[in-house]
Amino acid sequence: MPTTSAPDEHLRLEGIGVSFGAVNVIPSLDLSVRKGEMVAFLGPSGCGKTTTLRIIAGLNKPSRGSIMVGGRDITHLPIHDRDMGMVFQSYALFPHMDVSHNVQFGLQMRNVPAREAEKRAAQALEMVQLGHLAHRKPKELSGGQQQRVALARALVIEPSILLLDEPLSNLDAKLRDEMRVQIRALQQQSGITAVFVTHDQVEALSMCDRVVVMRGGHVEQFGTPTEVYERPATAFVANFVGRTNRLKGALTAEGILTGAGQQLRSATRLPAGAVDILVRPHRIRLQETGEADNKVQGTVSTITFIGDLVQYGVSVGGEEIVVEEATRRGRSPLAAGDSVTLGWSAEDTLIYPAGEK
Ligand SMILES: Nc1ncnc2c1ncn2[C@@H]1O[C@H](COP(=O)(O)OP(=O)(O)O)[C@@H](O)[C@H]1O
Ligand SMILES: [Mg+2]
Repeated sequence: MPTTSAPDEHLRLEGIGVSFGAVNVIPSLDLSVRKGEMVAFLGPSGCGKTTTLRIIAGLNKPSRGSIMVGGRDITHLPIHDRDMGMVFQSYALFPHMDVSHNVQFGLQMRNVPAREAEKRAAQALEMVQLGHLAHRKPKELSGGQQQRVALARALVIEPSILLLDEPLSNLDAKLRDEMRVQIRALQQQSGITAVFVTHDQVEALSMCDRVVVMRGGHVEQFGTPTEVYERPATAFVANFVGRTNRLKGALTAEGILTGAGQQLRSATRLPAGAVDILVRPHRIRLQETGEADNKVQGTVSTITFIGDLVQYGVSVGGEEIVVEEATRRGRSPLAAGDSVTLGWSAEDTLIYPAGEK
C-alpha cells in the first residue's frame, strides 16, 4: 500500500519480499531512506541484509514489491541502468589491472572517453588518498588500501546511491577504526545517499544517521543510533545493540517485582503480566550512596579486569547482575564477597513482555 513519502525521500522499498524456492527469506519489507543519509542494515548473520542490498542494486529480483529511487519505480530496471555504486567485503578488484584501471573500469563500461576516465580515476584515488599508488597491482597493496580502491571505484561513477556490504569485515581492528572514520567523512563530503550492511553494532551506531535493525527478514526497529540504543523496541534490539542484564519479573499494580522480590521502577509502560527486565551493565552504579529510582543489595562474586573496563558479577537474590565501570588507576577497592548497593534509574530499566527473545 503506497503511503505518502517524505519530501527528501531518495530510496523507498515497498512490500519487498524474497523467496528462494519454498523458503520465504524476506516476508515483506518497507523502508524509506532520505537523500544524503547513510543508513545501516544491522543484524545477525542470515537475517537478510545482503539479500536486501542485492535487490536494491539489481543483482537479485524481488519476488514481490517495488523499489523506488527519487520517486521513480526501478524494480524492473537492469543493474547498469540503476546508477548504484557497490563495495563488497571481498574487494572484488581485477588482479591483472593496475589500481587506476580498476577504478576506470566502470567509466569505460559507461563509454566515458579514455582521457576523461583517467582524470576522474585520478581524482577518485586522491579522494581516498591513494593517488600515489595508481600504477600498482591490487596484490601489491594492503587490505585497507585495496578496500579504498574498491571505494574509489564505486564513487568514481558518481552513483546516485552507494551500497556497502560489510566492507570492513576483512580488516584488522585498528584499520577498521580508521576506515570507519574515512568512509563516513567521504560520504558526508559527497552528500551521497548510502546503505551500509553490517553485523557490527559499533559500525552501525558510529557511522550511520539511522539504523535498520533486522531479524529473520523483517525490521525490528528503524531509528537513529540513540533511539535504538536508548529505547530499543524489543528485547532482541536491546541485546543486539549493546550488552544487557536480563532479569525475570512481573508487572503488578505495585510496580515491577523481580523474582527475588525487589521492587523496581521503569519509565516504560506495559500492561500487567510477566516481564523481562533489561538493564545495561554500565548504567548501574556499584556503590550507590545517594537517591536512585532503583536500589538493590548484592554481594560481589567476580571481578574481571578487561582493560578499559572492570566487570563485576554481583549476586542479587540468587540472580547474577553484571556491572561495568571504567577502569581507574590503582587497585580496585572491592573484593569478591563484599556487600554492595547497586543503583540505577527508571529510564535505564527497560521492560518487555516475558519470553521475547
Ligand atoms: N541464493 C540463495 N538461495 C537460497 N537461499 C539464500 C540465497 N541467498 C541467501 N539465502 C538465504 O537467505 C537468508 C538471508 O541471507 P543473507 O541476505 O545473505 O543474510 P545476511 O547478509 O544478513 O547474513 C539466509 O538464510 C540465506 O541462507
Ligand atoms: Mg551478508
